[in-house]
Amino acid sequence: MTSSTPPRTFHVKSFGCQMNVYDGERMAELLTAQGMHAADDSDGADLVVLNTCHIRERATEKVYSDIGRLRRDDGTTPLIAVAGCVAQAEGAEIMARAPSVRVVVGPQSYHRLPEMVAAAAAGGRETETEMPAEAKFAALPQRRKSGPSAFLTIQEGCDKFCTYCVVPYTRGAEISRPFADLIDEAKALVDGGAREITLLGQNVNAWTGHDTAGRAVGLAGLAHNLAKIHDLARIRYTTSHPADMDDALIAAHSENAKLMPFLHLPVQSGSDRVLKAMNRSHTADSYVRLIERVRAGRPDIAISGDFIVGFPGETEAEFAETLSLIDVVGYAQAFSFKYSARPGTPAAGMAGQIAADVMDDRLQRLQAHINRDQLAFNLATVGRRCTVLVERPGRQPGQWLGKSPWLQSVHFSDTANLGDLVEVDLIEAGPNSLAGRRVS
Ligand code: SAH
Ligand code: SF4
Ligand code: F3S
Repeated sequence: MTSSTPPRTFHVKSFGCQMNVYDGERMAELLTAQGMHAADDSDGADLVVLNTCHIRERATEKVYSDIGRLRRDDGTTPLIAVAGCVAQAEGAEIMARAPSVRVVVGPQSYHRLPEMVAAAAAGGRETETEMPAEAKFAALPQRRKSGPSAFLTIQEGCDKFCTYCVVPYTRGAEISRPFADLIDEAKALVDGGAREITLLGQNVNAWTGHDTAGRAVGLAGLAHNLAKIHDLARIRYTTSHPADMDDALIAAHSENAKLMPFLHLPVQSGSDRVLKAMNRSHTADSYVRLIERVRAGRPDIAISGDFIVGFPGETEAEFAETLSLIDVVGYAQAFSFKYSARPGTPAAGMAGQIAADVMDDRLQRLQAHINRDQLAFNLATVGRRCTVLVERPGRQPGQWLGKSPWLQSVHFSDTANLGDLVEVDLIEAGPNSLAGRRVS
């Protein structure tokens, strides 16, 4: 059952990467600008937007089970819109398989969501998965409110075509948003309460633009100009690709005091044969040397990575090379995944697909190395004094949670306010968080 009255309340549920979180916020702002109100959960919403992720098989399956779960006890469903990367990749299939879905909108077209929802409320079923370059951002409303830590998409899409990955197909070709728009959006976020901005892109360090004087600048130049915003205290960026890590950005980590000492630099594998089959444009050695250069300028920098185990044809010896690379780098944290064959990607058709139990075993062994290094990194920061950005109240009364410069979660008990930058002595470390004592 669907209603013909326009929805008054909405709920946006985002899955997947931080860019989807950003997109979800922008969709919520768009709907709010139309006079709609945000509901706390999908139960209380006339419109539910599922902002989906297509990166691994399980993420995609989740969409269909979520659609089923939106049916209410009285047999009705809210107006369902599927957005994000599954919408882009499987829009027609969703419309055919899930009659309760009224709107399918891809990541490059969600600025059209309000008019599509209105048409759907009048009885239609709407699909938009075109990829118009850059129309979206210009059509979105001005940012107004922000928490202490905000996301800002500066670059979108990917031209790298790693053989396992759907992102070049779901997000399209690489585009960089214009410099002036980004400075404006950052200022609006800071005026709205942000003290930290994380610049987002599928290949964020491939961002290029021209500053107000017309000079060509890259990510380092953008960060330099953002650092001039007085009340912005911290700048981060993610996700970067090793091939786009230029000298200026490496230098920025020692020169730009607002650029936090944290670098998420996915490597995927420590085997050159596997890296080549993945169409990664680096070797294990060039990656390690890159990290060394970054550390030379900023010795305390926290390094983070992404890993895939069980890529087609990966042998035990090749997997062991990944473990060795982890031992050499010493990650402060990392994300690791079992390879997932994605429809339409070259790797899905490669010989030597790896059995699930082998992948399980490799993932466990890899994560044991990462966990060991993560704890070691956290322990090594005990005794240091650092600034913590207060992001939310903790579980205990009087307790606060925030992030260290190295992106560690830190809790402390003292008087403080959301958005404060407080001096803290790190006094205790666990695998996932640290305890701090506020410096009086
Ligand atoms: N653009 C970013 C992020 C891509 S998606 C980058 O290149 O780093 C985030 C991570 O998901 C990737 O780094 C990779 O580790 C993982 N991933 C992507 N496709 C995958 C697949 N088919 N199976 C398993 N993991 C995958
Ligand atoms: Fe996917 Fe590779 Fe592009 Fe990252 S660089 S989004 S892993 S194709
Ligand atoms: Fe997922 Fe799309 Fe992000 S596939 S990881 S939501 S770019």
